[in-house]
Amino acid sequence: MSISGQLALKDGKDYLIKEEDISNIFYYQKNIILEIGFGDGENLINSAKMNPYSFYIGADPFLNTTAKCLSKIIQFNLKNIIIWPDDVRKILRFFPNSSISEIKILFPDPWPKKKHKKRRLIQDEFIKIIHPLIKHKGTITISTDHNLLKKWVLEKFQNHTEFEWVVKNSNDWRLRPNDCFQTKYEIKSINQKREPSWFIFKKK
Ligand SMILES: C[S@@+](CC[C@H](N)C(=O)[O-])C[C@H]1O[C@@H](n2cnc3c(N)ncnc32)[C@H](O)[C@@H]1O
Repeated sequence: MSISGQLALKDGKDYLIKEEDISNIFYYQKNIILEIGFGDGENLINSAKMNPYSFYIGADPFLNTTAKCLSKIIQFNLKNIIIWPDDVRKILRFFPNSSISEIKILFPDPWPKKKHKKRRLIQDEFIKIIHPLIKHKGTITISTDHNLLKKWVLEKFQNHTEFEWVVKNSNDWRLRPNDCFQTKYEIKSINQKREPSWFIFKKK
């Protein structure tokens, strides 16, 4: 980790949420967006900058990316983000029902090998856990450039009829939604001539 990363972690400790404080967020914030696997934080930071009246929870266990993201939160003096620097699955049990307006999962690790498919984040059990936490008509946005994961995500959500795939025409899932910002992995996929897809599922 860079020296600036270490400093950011030290100075940015107020932005790191502890398990026991998570439930407090829901008393004070009404429009909460959860980003899972924010990476270098491009989407998380830009979203928080553009939407000061929304509140963002970012979860990512990777220390380097957390440090980079904290530096940007401090640089832009953002007051509407909190970071959980670990696996998101460890905190979901603290979220009240119908508390999340949106979930964003941009370019999750595809784990393409068959023997690793259990490591993929999107699983039946995961969808069952997040479903009650999302508000009525709340959304989950998932992007990926990996063909196998595209198919996997669509299949998993088709099994869960309490979500509907929001698709207005035959092309819109090929375009980044207006409320998402370009991330490192989107740039990587475009440079490597892979086509990203964007799936939005709405809770019925
Ligand atoms: C391929 S990267 C994508 C990063 C970023 N979203 C982007 O588009 O550039 C996937 C990220 O998900 C994070 N991640 C993987 N499993 C996770 C989990 N269970 N909870 C939270 N983050 C996770 C990884 O640490 C990594 O930063």
